[in-house]
Amino acid sequence: MKKPVNRVIMTVILLSIITSLCSCNGQYYAKGKVKMDIQTKPFGKADGKNVDLYTLANANGLRMKVMNYGAIVLSLEVPDKTGKIDDVVLGFDTLEEYLKGHPYFGAIVGRYGNRIGKGKFTLDGVEYQLAVNNGPNHLHGGLKGFDKVVWDAVPVTQDDAVGVKFSYRSKDGEENYPGNLDATVTYLLTNDDEFKIIYSATTDKATPINLTHHSYFNLAGQGQRDILDHKLIINADLYTPVDEGLIPTGQLKHVKNTPFDFREPYAIGDRIANDNRQLKYGGGYDHNFCLRNGGGGGLTLAVSVYEPTTGRVMEVYTTEPGVQFYSGNFLDSSNVGKGGKVYKHRYGFCLETQHFPDSPNKRHFPTAILKPGQIYSHITAYKFYSK
Ligand code: GLA
Repeated sequence: MKKPVNRVIMTVILLSIITSLCSCNGQYYAKGKVKMDIQTKPFGKADGKNVDLYTLANANGLRMKVMNYGAIVLSLEVPDKTGKIDDVVLGFDTLEEYLKGHPYFGAIVGRYGNRIGKGKFTLDGVEYQLAVNNGPNHLHGGLKGFDKVVWDAVPVTQDDAVGVKFSYRSKDGEENYPGNLDATVTYLLTNDDEFKIIYSATTDKATPINLTHHSYFNLAGQGQRDILDHKLIINADLYTPVDEGLIPTGQLKHVKNTPFDFREPYAIGDRIANDNRQLKYGGGYDHNFCLRNGGGGGLTLAVSVYEPTTGRVMEVYTTEPGVQFYSGNFLDSSNVGKGGKVYKHRYGFCLETQHFPDSPNKRHFPTAILKPGQIYSHITAYKFYSK
């Protein structure tokens, strides 16, 4: 009778030894047990400039790799409900793979993230024509947007966070945008298990600006499977329907009785195949949701995502009025990512906090025009825990 009990006790002891050993090398969640750290190493060159790779670690063993090419997040390691740490973003192992081109994995997009209809807008009586790089429209800042430039970078250490502060001067006329724009983007990995982004910019001529972050998340771990089981809550009563080219029609439509109603939790896959014209245009979800706080209520919970098999939760807080929920519809196995993982259809999703797309041409949308003397500022935090 005693033997099986002893075996159980021995197994429990062994398992706890293994777990505590694992927590020492950062494989398992180690609440408050690890020293915050930031390591810098050369990662190659782009545009003749040095690119560095920064490895950040918080006091709980979460780790994040970022680089100053495109201010790209290469990896983000967070625990599941057993404490096991996994990488939850898509990306590559080397700079060369990023330089070959990719769909904005982990990057900052700008000067104007998302789309501008026909690449045209008029400001102070002048018509500007931007690159048309997405069907008939302008997308994510043009041919060489902020995702493809080398940013200046300095490591940042705070009491409760480590990070990197990136800065970039986008010159007057770059990608045909008006004004010298000085942008800074600070990434912080906090001891509250948040990946926090603080954006700021000034300009010397009026310009549209819409900076956002383009990580593809998969809370089950990168490259394992699609994201259709992830359950989402989006705090939005309205969304902006689009035309075939994904440019907002200008309407603000109520989400009630549509597959865009995420006010109660729904899995991404529950209604993605519904016979709905908007979903057909996007090839799935690729739409801007108008957040309830309208960008006016400080840092507010916008979206919450839960992955049931691992118990991982990601909450997105933002000061922005909108969020683009993109369900990875254009992923098609053509990108082979970290560890040789093939990124198949819908293997990742993005939550891009933003001003509404095409706002330079839609006067009733919150304005995305920055004028000289004003300071653009925006904060978004992706917070992780498990349940
Ligand atoms: C954004 C867009 C999508 C797509 C991806 C990149 O999220 O809204 O339509 O272009 O970027 O593939």
